[in-house]
Amino acid sequence: MTGQVRGVQLARLLGQWHALPGRRRSPDYAALAGAVRGLLADGRLPLGVRLPAERELAEALRISRTTVTAAYRHLRETGHLASRRGAGSWTMLPGNHRVASTGLWTPLDDRDMIDLGAAAPAAPPQLLDAARAAAEDLPRYLGGAGYHPTGIIELREAVAAGYTARGLPTSADQIMVTSGTQHALDLVLRLALAPGGSVLVESPTYPNALAALAGRRARITTHGLAADGWDSDLLLGSLRQTRPKLAYLIPEFQNPTGHLMPTALRERVVAAAHAVGTDLVVDESFVDLPLDGTELPPPVAVYDRHSRVISIGGMSKPYWGGLRIGWVRAAAPQVQRLAAVRVGVDMASPVLDQLVAVHLLAHADAIVTDRRVTLAAQRDALLDALAQRLPDWRVTVPRGGVTLWAELDGPVSSALARAAEEVGVRLAPGPRFGLDGTLERFLRLPFTLPAADLVEAVGRIAAVRYDLDRAGRQRWREPAVIA
Ligand SMILES: Cc1ncc(COP(=O)(O)O)c(C=O)c1O
Repeated sequence: MTGQVRGVQLARLLGQWHALPGRRRSPDYAALAGAVRGLLADGRLPLGVRLPAERELAEALRISRTTVTAAYRHLRETGHLASRRGAGSWTMLPGNHRVASTGLWTPLDDRDMIDLGAAAPAAPPQLLDAARAAAEDLPRYLGGAGYHPTGIIELREAVAAGYTARGLPTSADQIMVTSGTQHALDLVLRLALAPGGSVLVESPTYPNALAALAGRRARITTHGLAADGWDSDLLLGSLRQTRPKLAYLIPEFQNPTGHLMPTALRERVVAAAHAVGTDLVVDESFVDLPLDGTELPPPVAVYDRHSRVISIGGMSKPYWGGLRIGWVRAAAPQVQRLAAVRVGVDMASPVLDQLVAVHLLAHADAIVTDRRVTLAAQRDALLDALAQRLPDWRVTVPRGGVTLWAELDGPVSSALARAAEEVGVRLAPGPRFGLDGTLERFLRLPFTLPAADLVEAVGRIAAVRYDLDRAGRQRWREPAVIA
């Protein structure tokens, strides 16, 4: 069991359940059961969560208890609910369905493929100059051994200055440079999470974070994001009920949904985490990429008075993934402990790459401003192409980051990804961003490629989407025995 959802909370999630499209003339109990199944399939309602008692839900929905009883029975029959007398009812999927959501997810080197699987931009033109300048600086370091487990001081100072400029006073001894944000996450998990520890994550979330958590055999509970972002009540409720050891959140232009966590919730999440003894790992990968002049709320760590918040970030999204430079911001003693963990893994990050990062950060304003202009234009081209070619898909326009999360016209994301691969488009289907094989009605689309590629990709996707409908249902063959 991963917690429980109260009657009023479920009622809010269910919204207009009695008037959902496609309902036709089905009885109320069937419509209610269908709406609960829909929430499960979209990851809004986590698996293993306890549903409210029948009477409580009936009161919250202002319907008869018999309708709720019949809906729960129907959900049990279809394998979406498990009940034990006196203990309650828990959500599940038929046949204990679990799909591996982790695994290798790397960009392809096939040059004919339009790769929408990776949400990372190409290097900025200024990178070569930064690399040349870094090579000139290198002699200053060549007299030493070159091992700096927390990073070279110039880079730690530059990163600390970035936090200070965002309203979070930070000193260099609170920064540890890592080989990318993913490395930062892995190190933090090694330090803060014993094997088998409990973790709360958003659903959907970044697949490689799930991979890192799988590496710690973490017990994961999810907070389902709605079309407009986090549900404060549910998120704080899950923290209080499940009291996880750690929560992993992406508050700025969340990957994949693009949501930006509002200021008030930031403050409340930190307070709730402190109250229940949860450490917050805040992934700020996209914080440099607000679009349309969107104002950023203060960093989550601003509200931290008890060293509960560990922030991680890096150069990959605003600059280049190939640099492999990221960092952790934490209390200075935590940074020392992280460095001790780190030397058991890789000793230190390359000095030359760190120097390149120092030069890029020295020109941050110009580079990142260009980046934002390009990303906004690419996002708009993608939105236009979707509106023209796939008008039934629903998207919330992201105000930053590099991805949009499209709600499709059916639960076809994986099938679409398979079909798209055949026509030279690589996609990351919805279930990759969840734990349970849910999220089939969603697709992440990054806008990191040139506009012409995005438009071409949408054209190809629209063509195979149309073919999927005409292909009819896939039939299963008898499994062949190999002897
Ligand atoms: C939320 C999030 N965290 C971490 C990473 C990994 O970043 P890095 O290349 O810095 O390791 C990504 C990359 O897509 C990401 O989206």
